[in-house]
Amino acid sequence: MSHPLEQLRDEALREIESATDEQALEAVRIRYLGKSGSISAWSEQMKALAKEEKPVVGKLLNEVRNAVTAAIESRARQFRWQRESSAVSKIDISLPGATGPSGHSGYSGYSGYSTVLTGYSGYAPLERGSLHPLTQMLERSIEIFRRMGFGLADGPDVEDEWHCFDALNTPPEHPARNEQDTFYLPDGRLLRTHTSTVQIRTMQAAPPPIRVIAPGAAYRRDEVDATHSAQFHQIEGLYVDENVSIADLKGSLEFFMRELFGADTAVRFLPHYFPFTEPSLEVYVRSKALKRGEQWIEVAGCGIVHPAVFEQVNKARGDDVYDPQKWSGYAFGLGMDRLAMILFDIPDIRLFAQNDLRFLKQFA
Ligand code: PHE
Repeated sequence: MSHPLEQLRDEALREIESATDEQALEAVRIRYLGKSGSISAWSEQMKALAKEEKPVVGKLLNEVRNAVTAAIESRARQFRWQRESSAVSKIDISLPGATGPSGHSGYSGYSGYSTVLTGYSGYAPLERGSLHPLTQMLERSIEIFRRMGFGLADGPDVEDEWHCFDALNTPPEHPARNEQDTFYLPDGRLLRTHTSTVQIRTMQAAPPPIRVIAPGAAYRRDEVDATHSAQFHQIEGLYVDENVSIADLKGSLEFFMRELFGADTAVRFLPHYFPFTEPSLEVYVRSKALKRGEQWIEVAGCGIVHPAVFEQVNKARGDDVYDPQKWSGYAFGLGMDRLAMILFDIPDIRLFAQNDLRFLKQFA
Protein backbone atom coordinates (compact mmCIF):
# COMPACT_ATOMS: atom_id res chain seq x y z
CA MET A 1 0.00 0.00 0.00
CA SER A 2 1.31 3.41 -0.88
CA HIS A 3 1.13 6.26 1.57
CA PRO A 4 -2.02 8.42 1.33
CA LEU A 5 0.24 11.35 0.41
CA GLU A 6 1.50 9.42 -2.60
CA GLN A 7 -2.05 8.64 -3.65
CA LEU A 8 -2.85 12.32 -3.33
CA ARG A 9 0.15 13.15 -5.53
CA ASP A 10 -0.86 10.69 -8.28
CA GLU A 11 -4.38 11.98 -8.27
CA ALA A 12 -3.12 15.57 -8.56
CA LEU A 13 -0.79 14.70 -11.44
CA ARG A 14 -3.65 13.04 -13.32
CA GLU A 15 -5.85 16.08 -12.89
CA ILE A 16 -3.07 18.43 -13.97
CA GLU A 17 -2.53 16.38 -17.09
CA SER A 18 -6.20 16.41 -18.03
CA ALA A 19 -6.79 20.11 -17.30
CA THR A 20 -7.94 21.58 -20.62
CA ASP A 21 -7.23 25.24 -20.04
CA GLU A 22 -5.59 27.72 -17.68
CA GLN A 23 -8.72 28.16 -15.56
CA ALA A 24 -9.08 24.43 -15.01
CA LEU A 25 -5.40 24.21 -14.09
CA GLU A 26 -5.74 27.06 -11.59
CA ALA A 27 -8.69 25.21 -9.98
CA VAL A 28 -6.53 22.11 -9.59
CA ARG A 29 -3.77 24.19 -8.05
CA ILE A 30 -6.14 25.69 -5.47
CA ARG A 31 -7.63 22.30 -4.70
CA TYR A 32 -4.25 20.79 -3.84
CA LEU A 33 -1.85 23.60 -3.00
CA GLY A 34 -4.15 26.47 -2.00
CA LYS A 35 -4.36 27.59 1.63
CA SER A 36 -6.92 24.95 2.47
CA GLY A 37 -5.88 22.58 -0.31
CA SER A 38 -5.57 18.88 0.44
CA ILE A 39 -1.76 18.80 0.28
CA SER A 40 -1.50 21.93 2.41
CA ALA A 41 -3.79 20.32 4.96
CA TRP A 42 -1.13 17.72 5.60
CA SER A 43 1.13 20.36 7.13
CA GLU A 44 -1.50 20.75 9.83
CA GLN A 45 -1.94 17.02 10.30
CA MET A 46 1.84 16.69 10.78
CA LYS A 47 1.50 18.16 14.26
CA ALA A 48 -0.58 15.21 15.37
CA LEU A 49 1.97 12.62 14.25
CA ALA A 50 4.25 10.63 16.49
CA LYS A 51 7.78 12.01 16.98
CA GLU A 52 9.55 9.35 14.95
CA GLU A 53 7.03 9.60 12.10
CA LYS A 54 7.45 13.37 11.65
CA PRO A 55 10.75 13.48 9.69
CA VAL A 56 9.65 10.63 7.37
CA VAL A 57 6.29 12.14 6.53
CA GLY A 58 7.78 15.64 6.42
CA LYS A 59 10.24 14.56 3.75
CA LEU A 60 7.51 12.83 1.75
CA LEU A 61 5.28 15.89 2.02
CA ASN A 62 8.05 18.08 0.61
CA GLU A 63 8.61 15.72 -2.29
CA VAL A 64 4.92 15.55 -3.11
CA ARG A 65 4.53 19.32 -2.91
CA ASN A 66 7.54 19.83 -5.21
CA ALA A 67 6.37 17.27 -7.76
CA VAL A 68 2.89 18.76 -7.97
CA THR A 69 4.20 22.34 -8.14
CA ALA A 70 6.59 21.42 -10.96
CA ALA A 71 3.85 19.65 -12.92
CA ILE A 72 1.55 22.66 -12.61
CA GLU A 73 4.28 25.04 -13.78
CA SER A 74 5.12 22.87 -16.74
CA ARG A 75 1.46 22.56 -17.79
CA ALA A 76 1.05 26.35 -17.36
CA ARG A 77 4.04 26.90 -19.67
CA GLN A 78 2.39 24.70 -22.29
CA PHE A 79 -0.80 26.77 -22.13
CA ARG A 80 1.13 30.04 -22.29
CA TRP A 81 3.11 28.81 -25.26
CA GLN A 82 -0.04 27.73 -27.11
CA ARG A 83 -1.66 31.07 -26.40
CA GLU A 84 1.35 33.05 -27.61
CA SER A 85 1.97 31.03 -30.75
CA SER A 86 -1.66 31.19 -31.79
CA ALA A 87 -1.59 34.98 -31.28
CA VAL A 88 1.50 35.27 -33.48
CA SER A 89 0.12 32.99 -36.16
CA LYS A 90 -2.74 35.42 -36.72
CA ILE A 91 -0.29 38.12 -37.83
CA ASP A 92 -0.11 38.26 -41.61
CA ILE A 93 3.54 39.03 -42.22
CA SER A 94 2.94 39.16 -45.96
CA LEU A 95 0.88 42.36 -45.64
CA PRO A 96 2.72 45.34 -47.14
CA GLY A 97 3.67 48.17 -44.78
CA ALA A 98 1.91 51.50 -44.63
CA THR A 99 2.36 53.64 -47.74
CA GLY A 100 2.58 57.39 -47.63
CA PRO A 101 -0.29 59.45 -49.02
CA SER A 102 2.07 61.92 -50.70
CA GLY A 103 4.21 59.39 -52.48
CA HIS A 104 6.95 60.09 -49.98
CA SER A 105 9.99 58.15 -51.07
CA GLY A 106 11.73 58.75 -47.73
CA TYR A 107 14.04 55.80 -47.46
CA SER A 108 16.12 57.39 -44.73
CA GLY A 109 16.35 54.47 -42.34
CA TYR A 110 15.10 56.32 -39.33
CA SER A 111 11.75 57.41 -40.73
CA GLY A 112 11.11 53.96 -42.10
CA TYR A 113 11.81 52.49 -38.69
CA SER A 114 9.37 54.74 -36.92
CA THR A 115 6.70 53.73 -39.44
CA VAL A 116 6.86 50.27 -38.01
CA LEU A 117 6.91 51.35 -34.39
CA THR A 118 4.17 53.94 -34.52
CA GLY A 119 2.09 52.83 -37.46
CA TYR A 120 2.35 56.38 -38.80
CA SER A 121 1.81 56.09 -42.53
CA GLY A 122 3.63 59.13 -43.83
CA TYR A 123 6.55 57.17 -45.23
CA ALA A 124 7.28 54.45 -47.73
CA PRO A 125 7.28 50.89 -46.40
CA LEU A 126 10.53 49.23 -45.44
CA GLU A 127 12.05 47.44 -48.37
CA ARG A 128 13.79 44.10 -48.42
CA GLY A 129 17.54 44.64 -48.01
CA SER A 130 20.36 42.99 -49.91
CA LEU A 131 24.05 42.28 -49.41
CA HIS A 132 26.54 45.01 -50.25
CA PRO A 133 28.59 44.14 -53.35
CA LEU A 134 31.76 44.06 -51.24
CA THR A 135 30.12 41.56 -48.89
CA GLN A 136 29.08 39.44 -51.85
CA MET A 137 32.63 39.60 -53.19
CA LEU A 138 33.97 38.62 -49.77
CA GLU A 139 31.62 35.66 -49.44
CA ARG A 140 32.58 34.34 -52.86
CA SER A 141 36.28 34.70 -52.06
CA ILE A 142 36.02 32.97 -48.69
CA GLU A 143 34.14 30.12 -50.33
CA ILE A 144 36.87 29.60 -52.95
CA PHE A 145 39.71 29.72 -50.41
CA ARG A 146 37.81 27.43 -48.08
CA ARG A 147 37.80 24.81 -50.81
CA MET A 148 41.59 25.11 -50.87
CA GLY A 149 41.71 24.49 -47.12
CA PHE A 150 42.20 28.06 -45.87
CA GLY A 151 40.79 29.05 -42.49
CA LEU A 152 39.89 32.58 -41.38
CA ALA A 153 42.08 34.86 -39.28
CA ASP A 154 41.45 38.33 -37.90
CA GLY A 155 43.25 41.30 -36.39
CA PRO A 156 42.44 44.85 -35.22
CA ASP A 157 42.12 47.85 -37.55
CA VAL A 158 43.89 50.03 -34.97
CA GLU A 159 47.41 48.61 -34.81
CA ASP A 160 50.81 49.29 -33.34
CA GLU A 161 53.77 50.20 -35.53
CA TRP A 162 55.50 46.95 -34.75
CA HIS A 163 52.79 44.72 -36.27
CA CYS A 164 52.27 47.02 -39.23
CA PHE A 165 55.92 47.71 -40.10
CA ASP A 166 58.82 46.47 -37.93
CA ALA A 167 57.73 42.84 -37.76
CA LEU A 168 57.18 42.98 -41.52
CA ASN A 169 60.81 43.93 -42.11
CA THR A 170 59.84 47.53 -42.90
CA PRO A 171 62.44 49.85 -41.32
CA PRO A 172 61.66 53.29 -39.80
CA GLU A 173 62.99 55.13 -42.84
CA HIS A 174 60.64 53.30 -45.20
CA PRO A 175 58.33 55.75 -47.04
CA ALA A 176 55.19 53.77 -46.06
CA ARG A 177 55.81 54.87 -42.46
CA ASN A 178 55.70 58.51 -43.46
CA GLU A 179 52.98 60.62 -41.84
CA GLN A 180 51.86 61.56 -45.32
CA ASP A 181 50.88 57.96 -45.99
CA THR A 182 49.59 56.62 -42.69
CA PHE A 183 46.93 57.72 -40.21
CA TYR A 184 48.61 57.93 -36.81
CA LEU A 185 46.72 58.24 -33.54
CA PRO A 186 47.96 60.64 -30.85
CA ASP A 187 49.18 57.68 -28.75
CA GLY A 188 51.43 56.42 -31.56
CA ARG A 189 49.18 53.65 -32.76
CA LEU A 190 47.90 53.77 -36.33
CA LEU A 191 45.20 52.57 -38.70
CA ARG A 192 46.74 49.56 -40.39
CA THR A 193 47.92 50.33 -43.92
CA HIS A 194 47.48 46.72 -44.98
CA THR A 195 46.10 43.45 -43.63
CA SER A 196 49.62 41.94 -43.54
CA THR A 197 49.54 42.73 -39.80
CA VAL A 198 47.40 39.60 -39.43
CA GLN A 199 50.24 37.45 -40.83
CA ILE A 200 52.25 38.43 -37.77
CA ARG A 201 49.40 38.06 -35.29
CA THR A 202 48.54 34.62 -36.65
CA MET A 203 52.12 33.35 -36.36
CA GLN A 204 52.48 34.81 -32.87
CA ALA A 205 49.41 32.84 -31.83
CA ALA A 206 50.08 29.48 -33.44
CA PRO A 207 53.01 27.34 -34.62
CA PRO A 208 53.39 26.23 -38.25
CA PRO A 209 51.87 24.91 -40.49
CA ILE A 210 49.55 27.85 -41.19
CA ARG A 211 46.95 28.27 -43.92
CA VAL A 212 44.70 31.29 -43.40
CA ILE A 213 43.08 34.20 -45.15
CA ALA A 214 42.35 37.43 -43.29
CA PRO A 215 39.82 39.76 -44.90
CA GLY A 216 39.53 43.30 -43.54
CA ALA A 217 39.79 47.04 -43.97
CA ALA A 218 43.03 48.94 -44.50
CA TYR A 219 43.67 52.68 -44.41
CA ARG A 220 45.97 55.06 -46.28
CA ARG A 221 46.18 58.80 -46.66
CA ASP A 222 45.56 58.62 -50.39
CA GLU A 223 44.11 61.43 -52.42
CA VAL A 224 40.55 60.16 -52.88
CA ASP A 225 39.54 59.59 -56.51
CA ALA A 226 37.78 56.96 -58.63
CA THR A 227 40.34 54.29 -57.74
CA HIS A 228 41.64 55.45 -54.34
CA SER A 229 39.87 55.62 -51.01
CA ALA A 230 41.18 56.34 -47.50
CA GLN A 231 39.58 53.09 -46.42
CA PHE A 232 39.71 50.05 -48.65
CA HIS A 233 39.58 46.29 -48.19
CA GLN A 234 42.04 43.47 -48.61
CA ILE A 235 42.14 39.73 -48.27
CA GLU A 236 45.45 38.71 -46.79
CA GLY A 237 46.66 35.17 -47.33
CA LEU A 238 49.38 33.27 -45.48
CA TYR A 239 50.54 29.73 -46.09
CA VAL A 240 53.47 28.33 -44.09
CA ASP A 241 54.63 24.74 -44.40
CA GLU A 242 57.68 22.75 -45.42
CA ASN A 243 58.91 23.28 -48.98
CA VAL A 244 56.42 25.97 -49.98
CA SER A 245 57.46 27.37 -53.34
CA ILE A 246 56.48 30.10 -55.73
CA ALA A 247 54.78 27.41 -57.82
CA ASP A 248 52.34 26.83 -54.93
CA LEU A 249 51.70 30.55 -54.73
CA LYS A 250 51.06 30.93 -58.45
CA GLY A 251 48.90 27.81 -58.60
CA SER A 252 46.67 28.94 -55.72
CA LEU A 253 46.18 32.48 -57.01
CA GLU A 254 45.54 31.30 -60.58
CA PHE A 255 42.93 28.88 -59.28
CA PHE A 256 41.32 31.66 -57.25
CA MET A 257 41.20 34.12 -60.18
CA ARG A 258 39.74 31.53 -62.55
CA GLU A 259 37.07 30.50 -60.07
CA LEU A 260 36.17 34.15 -59.61
CA PHE A 261 36.42 35.53 -63.15
CA GLY A 262 36.00 32.46 -65.34
CA ALA A 263 38.08 29.62 -66.71
CA ASP A 264 39.66 31.61 -69.52
CA THR A 265 41.10 34.27 -67.22
CA ALA A 266 44.79 34.94 -67.83
CA VAL A 267 46.93 35.67 -64.77
CA ARG A 268 50.28 37.47 -65.04
CA PHE A 269 52.95 37.79 -62.33
CA LEU A 270 55.43 40.67 -62.55
CA PRO A 271 58.46 41.16 -60.30
CA HIS A 272 57.92 43.78 -57.60
CA TYR A 273 59.28 44.79 -54.21
CA PHE A 274 57.77 44.35 -50.75
CA PRO A 275 59.99 44.42 -47.66
CA PHE A 276 58.32 41.32 -46.17
CA THR A 277 58.51 38.99 -49.16
CA GLU A 278 61.42 37.85 -51.31
CA PRO A 279 60.94 37.43 -54.19
CA SER A 280 57.89 39.70 -54.51
CA LEU A 281 55.35 39.79 -57.31
CA GLU A 282 52.42 41.80 -58.52
CA VAL A 283 49.43 39.92 -59.89
CA TYR A 284 47.46 41.03 -62.95
CA VAL A 285 44.36 39.49 -64.52
CA ARG A 286 42.88 39.75 -67.99
CA SER A 287 39.72 38.09 -69.24
CA LYS A 288 37.51 38.47 -72.29
CA ALA A 289 34.54 37.80 -70.06
CA LEU A 290 35.20 41.06 -68.23
CA LYS A 291 33.85 44.32 -69.54
CA ARG A 292 37.34 45.77 -69.47
CA GLY A 293 38.29 43.28 -72.11
CA GLU A 294 41.92 43.02 -73.05
CA GLN A 295 43.31 45.26 -70.33
CA TRP A 296 45.66 43.78 -67.70
CA ILE A 297 44.40 44.81 -64.27
CA GLU A 298 46.53 44.70 -61.14
CA VAL A 299 44.73 42.87 -58.34
CA ALA A 300 47.26 41.71 -55.74
CA GLY A 301 50.73 41.80 -54.25
CA CYS A 302 52.38 38.59 -53.13
CA GLY A 303 55.63 36.75 -52.57
CA ILE A 304 57.60 34.26 -50.55
CA VAL A 305 57.73 35.15 -46.85
CA HIS A 306 61.03 36.87 -46.02
CA PRO A 307 63.12 34.94 -43.44
CA ALA A 308 63.48 38.21 -41.48
CA VAL A 309 59.71 38.08 -40.83
CA PHE A 310 60.00 34.59 -39.31
CA GLU A 311 62.86 35.85 -37.16
CA GLN A 312 60.81 38.80 -35.87
CA VAL A 313 57.96 36.42 -35.03
CA ASN A 314 60.33 34.08 -33.19
CA LYS A 315 61.69 36.99 -31.18
CA ALA A 316 58.18 38.04 -30.16
CA ARG A 317 57.16 34.47 -29.34
CA GLY A 318 60.34 33.85 -27.40
CA ASP A 319 61.00 30.55 -29.18
CA ASP A 320 62.28 29.43 -32.56
CA VAL A 321 59.42 27.38 -34.00
CA TYR A 322 59.41 29.50 -37.17
CA ASP A 323 62.85 28.25 -38.17
CA PRO A 324 63.49 29.71 -41.67
CA GLN A 325 65.67 26.66 -42.44
CA LYS A 326 62.74 24.34 -41.86
CA TRP A 327 59.67 26.34 -42.86
CA SER A 328 58.87 28.47 -45.86
CA GLY A 329 55.71 30.26 -46.84
CA TYR A 330 53.90 32.46 -49.26
CA ALA A 331 51.75 35.50 -48.59
CA PHE A 332 49.44 37.62 -50.68
CA GLY A 333 47.26 40.68 -50.34
CA LEU A 334 44.26 40.86 -52.66
CA GLY A 335 42.61 44.22 -53.30
CA MET A 336 38.98 43.42 -52.52
CA ASP A 337 37.48 46.67 -53.78
CA ARG A 338 39.47 46.28 -56.97
CA LEU A 339 38.27 42.70 -57.47
CA ALA A 340 34.66 43.71 -56.88
CA MET A 341 35.01 46.65 -59.28
CA ILE A 342 36.24 44.28 -61.98
CA LEU A 343 33.73 41.55 -61.27
CA PHE A 344 30.69 43.83 -61.18
CA ASP A 345 32.04 46.43 -63.61
CA ILE A 346 31.91 49.27 -61.09
CA PRO A 347 33.66 52.42 -62.35
CA ASP A 348 34.29 54.29 -59.09
CA ILE A 349 35.50 53.00 -55.70
CA ARG A 350 33.64 55.81 -53.91
CA LEU A 351 30.32 54.19 -54.82
CA PHE A 352 30.99 51.47 -52.23
CA ALA A 353 30.74 53.95 -49.37
CA GLN A 354 28.10 56.40 -50.58
CA ASN A 355 25.06 54.30 -49.62
CA ASP A 356 23.20 55.31 -52.75
CA LEU A 357 20.30 52.88 -53.08
CA ARG A 358 20.22 53.32 -56.85
CA PHE A 359 23.70 51.79 -56.86
CA LEU A 360 23.17 49.16 -54.16
CA LYS A 361 19.91 47.86 -55.62
CA GLN A 362 21.73 46.73 -58.74
CA PHE A 363 23.33 43.99 -56.67
CA ALA A 364 20.18 42.75 -54.96
N1 PHE B 1 50.59 44.20 -47.94
C1 PHE B 1 50.87 44.43 -49.37
C2 PHE B 1 50.11 45.70 -49.79
O1 PHE B 1 49.20 46.10 -49.13
C3 PHE B 1 50.42 43.27 -50.21
C4 PHE B 1 51.17 42.01 -49.91
C5 PHE B 1 50.69 41.10 -49.02
C6 PHE B 1 52.35 41.74 -50.56
C7 PHE B 1 51.37 39.93 -48.75
C8 PHE B 1 53.06 40.60 -50.33
C9 PHE B 1 52.55 39.68 -49.43
O2 PHE B 1 50.42 46.29 -50.79
